[in-house]
Amino acid sequence: MAEQFDFTVIGSGPGGYVAAIRAAQLGMKVAVIEKWATFGGTCLNIGCIPSKALLFASERFEEAGHMFSQLGIDIPAPVLNLPQMLNHKDETVASNVNGVEYLFKKNKITTFRGIGSIAAPGKVLVTPQSGPTITVETKNIVIASGSVSANLPGIEIDEKQIVTSTGAIALDKVPERLLVIGAGVIGLELGSVWNRLGSKVTVVEYLDRILPGMDSEVARQFQRMLQKQGFEFKLGSKVSGVEKQEDGSLKVRVEPAKGGDVEFLDVDVALVAIGRKPYTDGLGLEIVGVALDERGRVRTDAHYKTSVDGIYAIGDVIAGPMLAHKAEDEGIAVAEIVAGQAGHVNYGAIPSVVYTSPEVASVGKTEDELKAEGIDYKVGKFPFTANGRAKAMLATQGFVKILADVATDRVLGAHIVGANAGEMIHELTVLMEFSGAGEDLARTTHAHPTLSEAIREAALMLGDGAIHI
Ligand code: FAD
Ligand code: NAI
Repeated sequence: MAEQFDFTVIGSGPGGYVAAIRAAQLGMKVAVIEKWATFGGTCLNIGCIPSKALLFASERFEEAGHMFSQLGIDIPAPVLNLPQMLNHKDETVASNVNGVEYLFKKNKITTFRGIGSIAAPGKVLVTPQSGPTITVETKNIVIASGSVSANLPGIEIDEKQIVTSTGAIALDKVPERLLVIGAGVIGLELGSVWNRLGSKVTVVEYLDRILPGMDSEVARQFQRMLQKQGFEFKLGSKVSGVEKQEDGSLKVRVEPAKGGDVEFLDVDVALVAIGRKPYTDGLGLEIVGVALDERGRVRTDAHYKTSVDGIYAIGDVIAGPMLAHKAEDEGIAVAEIVAGQAGHVNYGAIPSVVYTSPEVASVGKTEDELKAEGIDYKVGKFPFTANGRAKAMLATQGFVKILADVATDRVLGAHIVGANAGEMIHELTVLMEFSGAGEDLARTTHAHPTLSEAIREAALMLGDGAIHI
């Protein structure tokens, strides 16, 4: 007799594990099926967490080499211990994935290891690496199978020399010359790690800008900051071939995106970071009739229900930004919806952060979007060069930019380039969640001296003007 569950999640990434925990908290009997050896999905195992551990460590390395002497701390030139840095990353991952396992136990969630495939609504088959197939019977199924790196046709990934992000967080030697294909979030974050540790980083980007989707003024200024750090950009270009050379290096063929003269680059490692694609292999969706959209994502309605009753989907495998916190919030929402509550995600106020140095953080509309939508907006901007705390921290790069509706003063979007931007963006996210106005922020006392005062000053710039500029 198969075990009976109320709520079965396929995939234990940020979407799946959060959905499972919320469903258990709401009184449901919950199962999670995961094919990997550890829980936590892309984010905890090979994504957010390991990349942030390396970004943190490499930033300290860079500071010890370049910033400490300015602060009156004379130390010998730092020496890189890469195995220990990778060890720090691995320990960070282990502690997080073990944390998910602990939470599953605490919430009395049953876990199955193996590939989950949907045989019919209410029935999931689990195929473990060895042993017989298990049948899980369940009232509701949630697909949270995530995404995988997109491939570049004709370029074969070996995860040693031609790598995706998975190989790029595990290189056992600092490459002398690193080629990054794609100036998106992964390319710039992992490019930063290896740039700080000594690689010469060249980024080839198809479009004529970096970070598509981010505010274009922010992207332009941020590109200059990265160039000062040693990044080289080849925008409007594409890689049309990578060949291994006899001396062990790679010869890369780069072409202008719109056609023109071909150029060859010699590099040691190439990172393919051209986006991620939804992952639905092995789920048996075609058998049960779960429809996909034109980009291979599971199609859902506003309540995460797929084309088949009793089957839901959340996270990277459905439409929307491929972000861990978006997946988590959909996980909470779908559990609440299945429990008969009014689960909901506000897609207009999902922050996104690039964890480089300085950080880039954004919420709501970009100026480009407001222009395209014909919305009458005003801009309040304040630079960190005029912020006392930033000066004390040698962190004067960047600015805060707030966009508000001319007629109502309602904040429509906010963009920060600067130290700790990823923490500071939440003040604006909460403001937007409450449909706040620029004046609400401008009249809120901010502690002095803090970097957050730059946000308040940007809000003042939407009205009568900032004090310190
Ligand atoms: P995933 O985390 O991809 O999890 C899916 C899980 O489902 C996996 O464990 C997989 O093994 C399992 N699975 C799939 N199919 C089956 C099956 N048939 N049976 C059983 N199990 C199955 N986002 C951020 O918000 N912040 C960041 O800083 C950030 N950094 C990132 C850095 C990198 C290098 C990468 C690659 C991604 C990063 N992301 C970041 C994106 C983030 O990882 C994803 O948005 C998030 O993991 C999506 O969660 P998910 O639950 O939808 O899917
Ligand atoms: P991305 O979509 O952010 O960037 C991919 C870049 O590659 C784009 O600039 C695109 O124009 C370019 N590109 C596409 N095809 C190309 C080609 N043939 N040649 C050259 N350039 C090409 O994707 P990325 O960086 O791979 O990240 C995947 C996802 O992971 C993102 O959607 C992001 O949301 C998520 N992520 C989030 C992080 C965060 O929140 N800090 C960190 C890392 C990843």
